[in-house]
This record gives sequence, C-alpha cells and structure tokens, in this order.
Amino acid sequence: MNMSEVETLAKVEVLADLEENVRELMIAHEAKRILWFPSELLSAAPDTDPDLHIRELRRRAEGISTPARVALALNLLTEEGLPHFHRLLAVYLGGDTFWSKWTNLWTAEEDRHGAVLHDYSRDSMVLNNPVIEKMQFEYLKAGFEPTWDKDPYRVFVYTTLQERATQVSHANTGKLAGAYEPMIGTVLANVAKEEARHYVFYRNVFEEVLARDPNRALESAAAIMPSIDMPGVNMPHFREMADVIRRAGIYGPRDYLKIVEEQIRYWAIDAIEGLNEMGKKAQEKIMAIPARLERVADVMETRSRAKTFAFAVAFAREFEME
Ligand SMILES: [Fe+2]
Ligand SMILES: [Fe+2]
Repeated sequence: MNMSEVETLAKVEVLADLEENVRELMIAHEAKRILWFPSELLSAAPDTDPDLHIRELRRRAEGISTPARVALALNLLTEEGLPHFHRLLAVYLGGDTFWSKWTNLWTAEEDRHGAVLHDYSRDSMVLNNPVIEKMQFEYLKAGFEPTWDKDPYRVFVYTTLQERATQVSHANTGKLAGAYEPMIGTVLANVAKEEARHYVFYRNVFEEVLARDPNRALESAAAIMPSIDMPGVNMPHFREMADVIRRAGIYGPRDYLKIVEEQIRYWAIDAIEGLNEMGKKAQEKIMAIPARLERVADVMETRSRAKTFAFAVAFAREFEME
C-alpha cells in the first residue's frame, strides 16, 4: 500500500464511524421532505381540459426571455448529469451501510429534478428539444472525472458547495422565468427547496468529519474551496452559457463567494484549534479564499463588455446582454 492508499483507508474508517450520524440525518431529512412527483407539478387542474392546459402553457411560455431559456437549459443538463454523480458517490458511499441507503435515496430524489425539467421543456416547447437531447447525450458520453474523486472528504466539500450552487441557480432561474410563466416558477421553487435539504445533509456530514479528523478534513477542504467546476464544464458552449447566467444575475462568482463565506462561518474554520502543521496551513489557505474570490469577481465585472449571444438550444435567437 502506498501513502495515499493508507490515507484513503483512514478516511474510509472515519466514514464508517459516521454511520449512526447518517442514519439520524436521513431520518431528519425524510421527516421534513414533501415528496412531489413531476406529473403532479405539471398536470392540469382536475377540471381543466388537458389539451387546453398544454395550449395555454405554450402560449404563456412564449414570453419566457431567451436568457431565462439558456439558464433553464443549463440547469436541466446539470440535473441530467446524475449518472456521473451517482457513480462518484457510490464509490465511497456504497456497500451494506447507511451510506448506500443515503446514496440511493439521494439518487431517487435527484432523478425527479431532471425528469420534471425535461417534461416541462417538452410540454412547453420552451427549448429546442432535439438539440437539448443531443447535448445531454454528449455530456453523459464525455464522462466526468473531477480531481476530487479519489478522496471521500473532498466529495463532501464538493457536494456541499454544489448543492448550494444549484439551489441558488434554480431559485433565481425560477424567479426570472416564473415572471413570464408561473408553472416553471413553482417547479423550480420545489427543486430548489430539495437542493437546500441536500446541502444541509452534506454540510452536516462534513462538520462531523471535521470534528473527527480536522487536519485531513481541512486539507481536503483547502483543495476544493478555491473553485468548483460545474459538471457540465466539458460541454460545448458551457462557458458561454455560464456567462449568460452570470449576466442575468442568476449565478456567478459573487454567488460562489457568498457560498464559500457561508461554509467558513458554519464550519467555524478559523476557530479550529490543536492542528498540526498541515492542518494550520490548510486553515490559513481557506481563510484567504474569500479575498481572492472577491478579486476574481471584480476583474470579471470590470472586463465584461456588452455581448451578443445565440444558442441553438434556444432556437438560435440573437440577444444582447450587458
Ligand atoms: Fe438536483
Ligand atoms: Fe441535490
């Protein structure tokens, strides 16, 4: 066994020690959850003609702005990346344990997010459906091999940040698109609420990891927190789509900065004591991240100029954004 295998084994033992916490967190999670299904959120009111329901939906959806459509497309694709995420989690959180019960529950919940957005898109015709289906195919075919997949602690830091980021993105997309078409507002509010509960689960898990193994936990957090790549990063046009979403005020570097600050506070990173050299260095590195993110956001905003965009998935309609 080499050193990194020994490290991973030590971390896996900490995970085994956390099983009882996971059981309790799952009970708390399920007690608060309202389990909705896509067809419930999307179907017509009981006394409405279903054909009229779809016609009305399409009429309202015509008003949804092109930037809001781009945001919907990116959110949909992120959700449909679930096979990548299920695989990554199942590596460490599998076996005959409460971890695999969580992984399975989480997967079942997440699967509805992609389904409801896909069904909404088909019913409302708000996106070019053949185009988005091809993008999804390419995204899944390309695979997703993040640098954190060899370290279970990094998995929890990444999932904490990622669940919060998707929550913000869904909630803000829902506000923007929902101003034109209320049904998508309701759909995305429900999805966002579920991301918020996933976020609570992962950040509590990492809190427990920090309490048991602070030095190694901080080292892992210091590796992830400077920036997280969204899973679609290798997708064609991803960067441009992300640029639109930033300009629309849905999600950007300032939101990521807020998310990082929130975790530093919640995990009380600066107050952790009794660390070794490695732990102290990681702690210092983490405490310096917000100032760096602030500079990155400043630079991006000063350099940003008005720009014209067009995306096949949003019917190649040209639009300009500040
Ligand atoms: Fe999701
Ligand atoms: Fe989630």
